[in-house]
Amino acid sequence: MTDVGRHPNITLHTMSEVVDVKGYVGNFKARIVKKARYVIEKECTSCGECTKACPVVFPDEFNAGLSSRKAIYISFPQAVPSSYTINMNECMGRGCSKCLDACDKNCIDFHMSDEEIIEDIGSIVVATGLEPYDPREMDEYGYTRFENVITSLEFERLVNAGGPTKGTLVRPTDRKRPATIGFVQCVGSRSLKKGGEYCSNVCCMNTIKSTLLLKEHYPDIDIKVFYIDIRAFGKGFENLYNRSRKLGVQYLKGLPGSVEELADGSLRIAVENTAVEKIESHDLQMLVLALGIKPASGTRRLQEIMGLQLTSDGFYLEAHPKLLPVDAATRGIFYAGCAEGPKDIKETVTQGSAAAARAIRLMHKGEIVSDPITSEVIAEHCTSCGRCAEVCPYNAITVDKKKKTPAVVNTAACAGCGTCGAECLFGAIVMNHFTDEQINSQTDAMLVKDAQNKIVAFACNWCSYAGADYAGVSRIQYPANVRIIRTMCSGRVDEKFVWHAFGKGAPIVLISGCHIGDCHYIDANHWTEKRFSKIRKKMEKLGIRPERLQLEWISAAEGIRFADVMSDMEELRKNVSKNEIEETVSILESAGKV
Ligand code: FES
Repeated sequence: MTDVGRHPNITLHTMSEVVDVKGYVGNFKARIVKKARYVIEKECTSCGECTKACPVVFPDEFNAGLSSRKAIYISFPQAVPSSYTINMNECMGRGCSKCLDACDKNCIDFHMSDEEIIEDIGSIVVATGLEPYDPREMDEYGYTRFENVITSLEFERLVNAGGPTKGTLVRPTDRKRPATIGFVQCVGSRSLKKGGEYCSNVCCMNTIKSTLLLKEHYPDIDIKVFYIDIRAFGKGFENLYNRSRKLGVQYLKGLPGSVEELADGSLRIAVENTAVEKIESHDLQMLVLALGIKPASGTRRLQEIMGLQLTSDGFYLEAHPKLLPVDAATRGIFYAGCAEGPKDIKETVTQGSAAAARAIRLMHKGEIVSDPITSEVIAEHCTSCGRCAEVCPYNAITVDKKKKTPAVVNTAACAGCGTCGAECLFGAIVMNHFTDEQINSQTDAMLVKDAQNKIVAFACNWCSYAGADYAGVSRIQYPANVRIIRTMCSGRVDEKFVWHAFGKGAPIVLISGCHIGDCHYIDANHWTEKRFSKIRKKMEKLGIRPERLQLEWISAAEGIRFADVMSDMEELRKNVSKNEIEETVSILESAGKV
């Protein structure tokens, strides 16, 4: 932290909030609101005289509320910059002014106000961190009712040499060292009802570390760990787990069903030990809840500002889980640490380094090479309707509707999904390398012979096409009459492609892409879904059976599902007669669709 604070090429905006981000790779513009500190950062020497004089006392958030701080304070001892801050919601203001009198450097300024900063940025690393799970919603463990039930975070502060008790473990009720202590795992993790369904990754090892620490300081302490299963999967982790067991820590397979407080403040835990299939009761003097990890509170707001994607758990979604694990779908944005999912320190450092390297690699040349798969506007066909700009997930297209000038594509921001091309009603957008002509020519070639026995499947590059690939390399069998046309995204599948395929005698047309929320072009497949419903309605009106057009979401890992879907398509195809196909061709011809 100190190195970062001192680095000549790093500008730290502390107490700041990003309120808007515009632009594209190499040319982002961020609007930042820097909150007033009410203390002149550069003048403050952190002498601490102000805090001694301040009469207002509040719980210290850094020590999980186990100690107190004043209204003028440093958030934690190693904070950078090492300057005091006044919390104006707590301060008594000018009426008191005791800090003002105590500060002989005159660093306190009650007139300071929030400042707006605009920064030009080439690439962005999102490292918004995490929040611990709030155990108050899971009160069966008695966190809000019994003082001797504490969280793993409170425990960390209690055993920390810089904490409120200078590292001595004491029970909150009587300030005595507990002789027995229990740890409950998976609080807010792996739960279908409360907290997250995911494993928080760090809680097992954090508890094991805590048991080792306790045994080192207090060898006679009796420790019990209640768990679902211990996940000690990292390098050297299993050794730590074994060491903890050898030191006498008892690991009991089962989470407490109830916690009761006894007269002396101790706790009685009822638990079903599933290893021996018995209901057991354990009396403990203190209970620690191993809290799970949640996405940081500002995650969704930042996601909206920057047009990022989230997983169903609320963490940021990377562009590709294996090949681009630190990249966002938007070029020039990267993820580091728990912003992308729960992870331990080692993984966080690895990912942070990777994100920094990816950002530097992009920026160091001063110019970027962009992918040729981008859209292009045919100015003479463009009516400036603005539809392309509306559907572009990257805001890469600008249209001046008032001036009626043709749409302009920013090729550095365009990611090449092709949704604009599919939505343009005037044929004014050409998707380079996936042009209408190229795609329709593939359909022609596929259906030139024996069309009534073929299935035309449009598959997006990242998920469905990769799913087909996966089915292939895994030797999973699927009907041999499926013909796949690759598009970068299912959003590229234009209504015209569907009519063209039916017009050439296709019995079944399938559009497939990434699951909703997983599209590699932010939310382009939402447009696929809407377009699919529209085409089906049109088919119904024209007298073509809508079932002949199908939409399926298949991910890259779903090789078996890909094969199953193709078998279903084959079943549907068998029900399409030659007459029906011929009738469809003539309907489409007379409707001018082909
Ligand atoms: Fe697969 Fe968009 S990338 S549907």
